[in-house]
Amino acid sequence: MKVLITGGTGYIGSHTIIEMIETGKFTPVCIDSCERSTPETIDRIEKITGIRVPFYQQNICDKDGFFQIFEEHKDIIGIIHFAAYKSVPESVEKPLEYYRNNLQSLENVLEVCLKYNIPNLIFSSSCSIYGEVANLPVNEDTPMGAPFCPYAHTKQIGEEMIRFFAHVHPQFNAVILRYFNPVGAHSSGLNGELSPDKPNNLMPIITQVGIGKMKQMAVFGTDYNTRDGSCIRDYVHVSDIADAHIKALEFILEKRNATNCEVFNLGSGSGVSVLEMIHAFEEITGIKLNYILGERRAGDIPAIYSDSVRAEQLLHWHCKYGLKDMVESAWKWEKMLSISQ
Ligand code: WQD
Repeated sequence: MKVLITGGTGYIGSHTIIEMIETGKFTPVCIDSCERSTPETIDRIEKITGIRVPFYQQNICDKDGFFQIFEEHKDIIGIIHFAAYKSVPESVEKPLEYYRNNLQSLENVLEVCLKYNIPNLIFSSSCSIYGEVANLPVNEDTPMGAPFCPYAHTKQIGEEMIRFFAHVHPQFNAVILRYFNPVGAHSSGLNGELSPDKPNNLMPIITQVGIGKMKQMAVFGTDYNTRDGSCIRDYVHVSDIADAHIKALEFILEKRNATNCEVFNLGSGSGVSVLEMIHAFEEITGIKLNYILGERRAGDIPAIYSDSVRAEQLLHWHCKYGLKDMVESAWKWEKMLSISQ
């Protein structure tokens, strides 16, 4: 069964394509503008899987070009929609670019589902829709918080767009997956997160400091009301996140969904602090990281992590990889990158 992956040369999209091919349950077709990724990811996927995935380098905000794919592939039965900008700090600096890109692309995806009768959609959402939460762990019934940045707001609006669309089109089935903090890389070391010149996220910064690409990093705040004063997040291996997309497709294709718009948190059920992640890296790799205890970063919330009961019970999904796997795979990828660059 053929599935279109938007944003398929990105971090989670590419790992999901690899997972699809390795499980053999679905046939991926990839579309990506490569504005935030590279077409070389298709080569890396082929090196890992032996499969050359059909790839269209174009922006799904360009409706005509996007729709053309469905004239060529009339047997697409579903779309996994990853394509979006996803940097919290960048969205604060460039709000209109985030609203335009993230919402226009989703609108085109929903329009294509209608025009070409594509009955299944998996939407990449984010724990950032919860904002700052008092009662942890969060679950799918935790209400959306006031959006703390345009990125989070585009994910909140996106979920509501899908909910209203599903309400008027009962033949359409959507699953919304709320990621917490995806980290790590493919076990082969041949695919992983390709950060922009200066990454924002914790794990790529840790591995770049570890390999010497970055001289020093800072812990953004150690005066939070958490067990060690640094922020707590729910880190999940990217291959576990990828696996959840396969299970979400099976969930709707096997008609196990009670409604035609279901939401799942993809979290591990526990949190890890920034200092704990740094110490885990040092212990696992034997490398001492050069870090300072710095000021808070604007837009950060003190702690968030999820219970994953719903995804375990209904998607039959659980995290197969632990913190050691996340650190080891991220480090293996960083070392591979340093050889190839
Ligand atoms: C994690 C913690 C930082 C760098 C991410 C994605 C976002 C969304 C949610 C999917 C924070 C701290 C970081 C550093 C640090 N995911 N940190 N020093 O902010 O939770 O957001 O998950 O939709 O797209 O960006 O992740 O990795 O940026 O930060 O202390 O050099 O690490 O302050 O507390 P975040 P992150």
